[in-house]
Amino acid sequence: MHSIYFAGLAWVTLATNDTYALGALVLAHSLKQVQTAHELVVLITPGVSQAMRGQLNAVFGTVEEVDVMDSKDAANLALLARPDLGITFTKLHCWRLTQFNKCIFLDADTLVLQNCDELFDREELSAAPDAGWPDCFNSGVFVFRPSNETFNELLKFALEHGSFDGGDQGLLNMFFKDWATKDINKHLPFIYNLCSTATYSYLPAFKL
Ligand SMILES: *[C@@H]1O[C@H](CO)[C@@H](O)[C@H](O)[C@H]1NC(C)=O
Repeated sequence: MHSIYFAGLAWVTLATNDTYALGALVLAHSLKQVQTAHELVVLITPGVSQAMRGQLNAVFGTVEEVDVMDSKDAANLALLARPDLGITFTKLHCWRLTQFNKCIFLDADTLVLQNCDELFDREELSAAPDAGWPDCFNSGVFVFRPSNETFNELLKFALEHGSFDGGDQGLLNMFFKDWATKDINKHLPFIYNLCSTATYSYLPAFKL
């Protein structure tokens, strides 16, 4: 007898330093605690120490370094032109995880309190409304499909339009503007903000 293997589905988070890496470790343990069937991926930047990388490797199936400054591609060129967009670009790299079919991004300061694997039934770009700006989605939790084309389009869009809040949330809301107007199926219930996930009070409250 074979068990069904849901290939290509992954939870993805991002750690830009050891503090966020600690959050990512707790997030990974919380996903294991609720017995998710899916893979765990963490994107890291050069700011994460070797010791911390060892710990991340023990818990995440994939630890992938995102080093835009070192790359010789469009992302690097874009960054040289607009260094202010650097951290925003880092998060966009989740679209490059093309070894997966569908992913859910979770900020590293998220804690999963109950199994929510059903989120993988949703399509790109699904997210919950932002508590402060309900016409916008909150970019701390979102469903997406990795694609190099989407990544390149996002990059181009960022360079042309910037972001109304200077961060990834504004940029993603502008790029995936259909979320607000067209497809209500892409609105995750608030429960995914209030019930299944909670933000640590002892980690910095500002967004990455
Ligand atoms: C996406 O681009 C990366 C390199 O940037 C490459 O390794 C990968 O194979 C590409 N994926 C697809 C599906 O073309």
